[in-house]
Amino acid sequence: MAGSDHEFGGQHTEIKLAIVEAYLKRYSAALHNWCDHVWYIDAFAGTGRRTVRVKARAGDLLEEPAPEQVEQRRGSAQIAIDIAPPFDRLVFMDTRRKHVAALEGLKAANSHRDISVLQGDANSLIQSEIEWDGWKKTRAVMFLDPYGMEVEWETLKKIAATKAIDVWYLFPLAGLYRQAARDMSKIDAIKEAAITRMLGTNEWKGELYSKVKAPPTVDLLGYLDDSETLQRSADVGGLEQYVRQRLKTIFAEVLDPYPLPVLEKPQRFSLFCAISNPSERAIKLAKSFGADILKSTGSASRHRSGR
Ligand SMILES: C[S@@+](CC[C@H](N)C(=O)[O-])C[C@H]1O[C@@H](n2cnc3c(N)ncnc32)[C@H](O)[C@@H]1O
Repeated sequence: MAGSDHEFGGQHTEIKLAIVEAYLKRYSAALHNWCDHVWYIDAFAGTGRRTVRVKARAGDLLEEPAPEQVEQRRGSAQIAIDIAPPFDRLVFMDTRRKHVAALEGLKAANSHRDISVLQGDANSLIQSEIEWDGWKKTRAVMFLDPYGMEVEWETLKKIAATKAIDVWYLFPLAGLYRQAARDMSKIDAIKEAAITRMLGTNEWKGELYSKVKAPPTVDLLGYLDDSETLQRSADVGGLEQYVRQRLKTIFAEVLDPYPLPVLEKPQRFSLFCAISNPSERAIKLAKSFGADILKSTGSASRHRSGR
């Protein structure tokens, strides 16, 4: 693999990027009808392309066998550059030096476009830079596509406060249900802080967990132990609903999340679309884009899997 190759995700990555691309197309077309400053912000931008290994295929009656192939496909930054009508400005952020170098390469290859590449932690960059008067005349879509639990609640609050940005957030549900163990006594201080940083409150402890009586046992000295433990009452679906409710406390609207990977139980991610502009028109528009796209992508992926 070359130094700038970026291999990540699985088949769900295709669906995730297809959903975001469909939204970006509609968003850019609709918003350019009345707004001169329509931006795209990719806070976990990667390199602009992704390296995909296509597994070897055994031959059958209809198809020849095929060896394993390594393909280069477009990542979110390149997809956003290719959207027509074009975004007026694109902002790409990433922590990794090699990824930033690749993004600088994209900028150089598209020198006629207004592209900014920022190296650093997306949380710090967004929290320190996003407050701005210009949001009154500017609209943007932001993509939050972290590997894990990197996105802080404070970051989401700052984005929501702009009242100008629609956010697509690949929420790491598996990260949450692994850190939020069934038995609360198994959650150490580091895990507890990580969950609180991601959800923006420590009230999750009371809201997701309830007291359960342990089956009575008798210890070696003959004492009866019938103590209570705190057990997570929310299952994976409940956790997803909880995240949605949390997002709704700061965003004007949050669309139904899309579970990814589609065929995996339990799902590992929830793809959320949160709208910060409280105007009726903005919400109606985002809802209609989002609902159509999620419906068509949902039926396409069910069709592919034969469900
Ligand atoms: C899943 S990849 C993003 C893939 C990209 N959306 C695409 O489609 O090509 C996550 C990216 O986030 C970057 N990253 C990790 N932690 C970060 C942070 N705290 N702030 C900004 N970027 C970060 C990684 O270097 C990586 O490039």
